[in-house]
Amino acid sequence: MTIVIASDHGGFELKAMLIKRLHQLRHLVEDLGCHSPDSVDYPPYAEAVCQKVIGGCEAGILICGTGIGMSIAANRDRRIRAALCHDEYTARLSREHNNANILCLGARVVGPGVAEGIVETWLATEFAGGRHLERIRQFSD
Ligand code: RB5
Repeated sequence: MTIVIASDHGGFELKAMLIKRLHQLRHLVEDLGCHSPDSVDYPPYAEAVCQKVIGGCEAGILICGTGIGMSIAANRDRRIRAALCHDEYTARLSREHNNANILCLGARVVGPGVAEGIVETWLATEFAGGRHLERIRQFSD
């Protein structure tokens, strides 16, 4: 799968770790930054990942300190369903019920091991469709 990923400085280290893991799992990863631990604003990184996902990239990952800023910024576009997940349960349900196309993580909230489990669960889970299709339609049109 091709995955587009970005973070601000708060998620810089976790992003590097997750990219290594995604490569081990044979995914293609496009890293849109940031490329150093220097302080940056998160909205342009959220926007860059959103544009790639809207353009057809299968999955996006956004990381900041809490994951909150990235998820708020990403969800401004009606075609984006960005889910801030803190555990494997919310990761799985965000795919099954919400068909999330971007996963948001808070690097200061979850440790690297938990983050890895969240990402792997999120990527492995399919949208369930059915009654959830209409619910998603109601906020997408
Ligand atoms: C940066 O300090 C922090 O505000 C940012 O990473 C994020 O948590 C914002 O929501």
